[in-house]
Amino acid sequence: EGDVYKYYSEGEWKVSSSGKTVSIVNPTTRKTQFKVQACNQEEVNKIVESAKAAQKSWAKTPLWKRAELLHKAAAVLKEHKKPIAECLVKEIAKPAKDAVTEVVRSGDLVSYFAEEGVRILGEGKFLVSDSFPGNERTKYCLTSKIPLGVVLAIPPFNYPVNLAVSKIAPALIAGNSLVLKPPTQGAVAALHMVHCFHLAGFPKGLISCVTGKGSEIGDFLTMHPGVNYTGVAISKKAGMIPLQMELGGKDACIILEDADLDLAASNIVKGGFSYSGQRCTAVKVVLVMESVADELVKKVNETLAKLTVGPPEDDCDITPVVTESSANFIEGLVMDAKQKGAKFCQEYKRQGNLVWPLLLDNVRPDMRIAWEEPFGPVLPVIRINSVEEGIRHCNASNFGLQGCVFTRDINKAILISDAMETGTVQINSAPARGPDHFPFQGLKDSGIGSQGVSNSINMMTKIKTTVINLP
Ligand code: G3H
Repeated sequence: EGDVYKYYSEGEWKVSSSGKTVSIVNPTTRKTQFKVQACNQEEVNKIVESAKAAQKSWAKTPLWKRAELLHKAAAVLKEHKKPIAECLVKEIAKPAKDAVTEVVRSGDLVSYFAEEGVRILGEGKFLVSDSFPGNERTKYCLTSKIPLGVVLAIPPFNYPVNLAVSKIAPALIAGNSLVLKPPTQGAVAALHMVHCFHLAGFPKGLISCVTGKGSEIGDFLTMHPGVNYTGVAISKKAGMIPLQMELGGKDACIILEDADLDLAASNIVKGGFSYSGQRCTAVKVVLVMESVADELVKKVNETLAKLTVGPPEDDCDITPVVTESSANFIEGLVMDAKQKGAKFCQEYKRQGNLVWPLLLDNVRPDMRIAWEEPFGPVLPVIRINSVEEGIRHCNASNFGLQGCVFTRDINKAILISDAMETGTVQINSAPARGPDHFPFQGLKDSGIGSQGVSNSINMMTKIKTTVINLP
């Protein structure tokens, strides 16, 4: 039951000596679709050792050659978009078209990293000492960017390919090696993606992909002394090593009285319900001025009614959420809101992992859904009486990823953006990470560091200086 996949270590595909596998359940059929190797700690040790060794010579490989290989990998990845997208459909129920888009976007991102990398890493600085008070011109300082060493990447299930290459490409162009621990749901898509890097001809051990149970190898990897950079919510466990984390969000959408309500409604539906709300950047709470709330809710409901619900293979808008426990969690939030008096604009409906889209009106701050992230196709609307009330709600969240504001008054929009404690504010559009070279960062519990092409490259390097002391 379910094809069994090997893991990738030292440039080879291997079966784990544990003799065990981890099952990947198709969210739509709820049957085992694939199995991946349940690697053990000994195998992790081997991977990290080979990553360390491969990195040493990779760092000495000319930058233009590193870029050339990345361009090749990008092209191979795009050639293989179909089989990889099929895995995304089966493993994480991503609608078929969106799955292809994820792979193409990933190929483009790898190329962009290669292009920018040669510029960013091809430049250093030259400083002289006599600009600082009390100094003569007796010291010349040369700076350059050097790799960190071994980078560990642990992407989430919702973008197993894109959020993996967004770490792999900057790591490799900067001269690091990379160990990938993909999410269980999405592991086979990730293994296919890694195969594209294999086909492009990267040296053995430079990139590897270890699969298995988080409980067996997750902590072990993040605390591994051989790893020099990682990004997962375990900064305490990781200790002093540099981290980059992209975590959750409760992205607020503030609607002012002068907003274009058609524009706002279409963005709320797209932002709140694409990939069934399973995006960290999804609109997760609508804060609308009471005077335009009825009209906005009506428009959102009209657009929601057009969404198709069903299997990802049919390219439906709303597809089953990733696991049964995720569907149960969403149901828990919805029932809590119902009990406390929220108004359901649609009938709540669920079949297995498939949850029908639901807008909840008249949500109040005592309801869990006002604060928690459902990661599903259910969206709360809170009616506000002042902009300040909206900003207060947004800022009271422990998250601070993105937010958006709809108004025709650009001055107000800028002031609201300044007041919102989030890494990004979108004016007159739903939150989104892309285009992928834009800086992407979360404040508070939403993350550490800033991604984007130049930011990610910089985060995966450290500065090295050499000072020439003149006689
Ligand atoms: O889930 C988090 C992703 O980084 C969001 O990316 O805005 O392109 O869907 P996206």
